[in-house]
Amino acid sequence: DLGVINIPVNVHVVYSNAEQNVSDSQINSQIAVLNKDFRANNTDANQVPSEFAGLVADTEINFTLANTYRHFNATSAWSTNDAVKAAYPPVSPSTHLNIWVCNISGGILGYAQFPGGPSQTDGVVVLYSSLPGGSAAPYNKGRTLTHEVGHYLNLRHIWGDGRCNRDDFVSDTPKSDAANYGCPSYPTVNCRSADMTMNYMDYVNDDCMYMFSKGQKSRMRAIFEAGGARASMLN
Ligand code: ARG
Ligand code: ZN
Ligand code: CA
Repeated sequence: DLGVINIPVNVHVVYSNAEQNVSDSQINSQIAVLNKDFRANNTDANQVPSEFAGLVADTEINFTLANTYRHFNATSAWSTNDAVKAAYPPVSPSTHLNIWVCNISGGILGYAQFPGGPSQTDGVVVLYSSLPGGSAAPYNKGRTLTHEVGHYLNLRHIWGDGRCNRDDFVSDTPKSDAANYGCPSYPTVNCRSADMTMNYMDYVNDDCMYMFSKGQKSRMRAIFEAGGARASMLN
């Protein structure tokens, strides 16, 4: 058993104006949200319906801010082509989670690289205004980063990116047919059972997502075991 896994975090703030240059306190709040969500210490975990309450997981993964790098760049919005990572490469990606905080074009809240990809693009990119207290309501409670770090740790979307017969490779998350948005009422049934709409890996509002499942915990932690794609992070 690996026990509680601590992941050091390097944050790259890339800004073209003062608003995009998010404060240290906002970054600290964001790391705090990440830790609450991954440790099931989020205050809204008690909203999980009883059908799923026994599946709520403390992933025993913890994040510690290592370094914050600030870069002015005249680019006012970055696309998802990883140019921001080329301009400001990840620092120690084999041992650190790298997060780029910047403006992203096209209404994108964030994107992540799954484990096993090239080291020079490893990490996650999040919209600066999605941080806690940012202007991207209803996506301004910091859960975009929770979702993206889920991808970074090998999680797929809750609906398996397909119709009811597609899988997210996690057995305790029910099948669904597509993303849910907004704040769905329970039960929302698409594939003959209730969707786990309140899972961080759905597309609902930040206020309406408040759990990882035990199966997702196992899938994330497997990558840290010997031979796993992120085992080097524990060295
Ligand atoms: N659309 C993005 C993705 O698939 C992020 C979704 C985040 N959702 C949220 N409620 N913050 O990676
Ligand atoms: Zn996603
Ligand atoms: Ca599943």
